[in-house]
Amino acid sequence: RVQPLADRHGRVATDLRVSLIDRCNLRCTYCMPAEGLDWLPNEDVLTDDEVVRLIRIGVERLGITAVRFTGGEPLLRKGLVDVVRRTKQLRPTPETSLTTNALGLGRVAGALRDAGLDRVNVSLDTVRREDFARITLRDRFDDVITGLEAARAAGLEPVKVNAVLLRGINDDQAPELLRWCLDHGYHLRFIEQMPLDPQHGWMRSTMVTADEILESLQREFVLTEARRPRGSQPAEEFLVDGGPFTVGVIASVTRPFCGDCDRVRLTADGQVRNCLFAREESDLRTPLRNGADDDEIARRWVAAMAGKLPGHGIDDPSFLQPTRPMSAIGG
Ligand code: GTP
Ligand code: 5AD
Ligand code: SF4
Repeated sequence: RVQPLADRHGRVATDLRVSLIDRCNLRCTYCMPAEGLDWLPNEDVLTDDEVVRLIRIGVERLGITAVRFTGGEPLLRKGLVDVVRRTKQLRPTPETSLTTNALGLGRVAGALRDAGLDRVNVSLDTVRREDFARITLRDRFDDVITGLEAARAAGLEPVKVNAVLLRGINDDQAPELLRWCLDHGYHLRFIEQMPLDPQHGWMRSTMVTADEILESLQREFVLTEARRPRGSQPAEEFLVDGGPFTVGVIASVTRPFCGDCDRVRLTADGQVRNCLFAREESDLRTPLRNGADDDEIARRWVAAMAGKLPGHGIDDPSFLQPTRPMSAIGG
């Protein structure tokens, strides 16, 4: 009965990343210009019922076993708690998680947990207040810390922290971030910056690489490989000072993991993206709104996987950034 979301390169998508909104309340310089972007018109954004219906089709018919909610900033989506609750009521019950900047998480972590959310990943690139304001263009460091603490208190664990290092801003702060996360009981992962910014400011030559991050950590910590091969998880994990705690590195650029990819994405306006870097999307919103039945939606979704490229091709001379920026894909 289940029809897998298989592509032509032997991969099967079981992990669905759902972007619930393209707006954000921070302006991380590597992600969004200060003035924001041209947001999706409200009428193009799927309603809660529409999102839940697509997730249900994914879970019931297409073998989706994990659902991650992203944005923009998913906490800005009014119906978030309800969407999580309804997702968690589906059978077989999917694992659910949230990728967030944690602004306002202090107020809703408990409700999210009650709705059945399993865990959260929080973006935090520095633990220095001034640098936080410099990177995000908003002086909201304390709110993030409040959100992180609330997530842990609510049992949304493991709480993971995602950090992007930027040349000349926080590229020397890897050990400090790790120390802080170890002290506070959060699981830290460093992410190599990918060419997904609308300003097209990304440069391979200045990007902070995984090797460089590991080297700087090794000046203060002993790292040993904890999990290898990493399977479909993007993060490579290292034991810190013999364990039990670990630190992760998501080396999307220098050590791509596309061969093990098990992801598929749904944008806030109802388009299937078979890859973060896909150049084409498949529209599910139009058939959804034209009365297509579950079979028809499922068929279109399966078809959307056929064109999934074997890899992101960032290093190809012909590489082109996707037109949709990171904030409208959800990472
Ligand atoms: P976990 O299940 O907690 O490991 O989640 P995750 O790391 O997959 O999700 P998260 O939203 O925290 O993403 C962390 C970073 O990994 C972001 O920069 C994502 O863009 C990146 N990432 C997630 N999935 C993929 C993927 O399929 N391909 C690539 N290239 N990067 C990805
Ligand atoms: N490259 C890598 N990671 C990015 N993020 C945002 N933009 C980029 C990029 N260009 C991170 C965010 C968040 C996660 C979803 O992706 O900081 O933690
Ligand atoms: Fe999968 Fe595309 Fe990410 Fe590669 S870049 S891991 S194919 S989503």
